[in-house]
Amino acid sequence: MSKVTVIGAGNVGATCANVLINEGIAHEVVLLDIKEGVSEGKAMDMMQAANILRLDATIKGVTNDYSATADSDVVIITSGIPRKPGMTREELIGVNAGIVKSVTENVLKYSPKAIIVCVSNPMDTMTYLIHKVSGLPKNQIIGMGGALDSARFRYYLSQAMGADYNDVDGFVIGGHGDTTMIPMTRLAVNRGVPASQYLDKETLAKVAADTMVGGATLTGLLGTSAWYAPGAAAASLVRAILNDSKAMITCSALLEGEYGEKDLCIGVPCILGKNGIEKIIEIELNDEEKELFAKSAAAVHKTNAALPC
Ligand code: NAI
Ligand code: 2OP
Repeated sequence: MSKVTVIGAGNVGATCANVLINEGIAHEVVLLDIKEGVSEGKAMDMMQAANILRLDATIKGVTNDYSATADSDVVIITSGIPRKPGMTREELIGVNAGIVKSVTENVLKYSPKAIIVCVSNPMDTMTYLIHKVSGLPKNQIIGMGGALDSARFRYYLSQAMGADYNDVDGFVIGGHGDTTMIPMTRLAVNRGVPASQYLDKETLAKVAADTMVGGATLTGLLGTSAWYAPGAAAASLVRAILNDSKAMITCSALLEGEYGEKDLCIGVPCILGKNGIEKIIEIELNDEEKELFAKSAAAVHKTNAALPC
């Protein structure tokens, strides 16, 4: 039976935990937060919902008690502050780096073999920090950003095409930032037919632009960053890992030469299975996409250089 810990019982963490049990992805979930009572309260509420829904899962909330997380198979880190309207993800680095570092150290004391999924922003840099702090094999550390950005891309594509969003496929690579992500419009399809056969160049460019600021649009509407799709996206990575499904999902992975880059974590298509990131897929990029990827990587390197620890 798999055990999953979610660190941070705020908007994204609690939503992720809820999806994990509601979808039957995990049967034993621990929700940990530093704020007294929050995770206990949310876990109790979810258990009462589980009773109504006749679910077969347990969720336990704890305040900073890492012993309860012992022997987790997967740990999702969502602890940290979210951005407010007008803020970039990169501006969160000062506070969130300290939180992510201490959380990672505590997680490893009790679950040294866990696969770690990083959600906290700036996510590519926090994922890189976890590599530095943990020394875990690179397959065991996964940044969640591309799964969410790709869902936003498919949403905007389906809206523009007037298509069923389940028929639309497409993905986003690059950094998880308003100016660093790269929606792959060239490869987007509706039931296998290229999106460019439905949408003119200008409309496709608008779909890409809307996708890139998808998080900022929601932050403007909500006053804080989004949580339903982020929580579901994090849970979707856990499903691929625990089911050993070999799903191809864009994740922030440590590159060691792939796409001509090294010593950074950035969004690339990955095959996920029981060992975490089992393979990085190197799709052939055209010259324009190569240039965008190199620019995106340079921006992520710059944010990494600002790491205080
Ligand atoms: P939130 O403020 O609702 O929740 C954060 C939780 O972390 C709070 O409950 C807080 O008490 C807890 N926390 C803070 N320090 C902690 C520590 N040392 N140990 C344990 N818990 C601690 O924020 P929200 O909306 O859930 O966002 C969480 C993070 O995820 C933010 O950094 C946000 O920017 C990021 N995010 C990333 C996305 C992605 O695609 N990678 C998407 C959406 C949010
Ligand atoms: C999002 O994309 C802010 O990373 C967060 O919603």
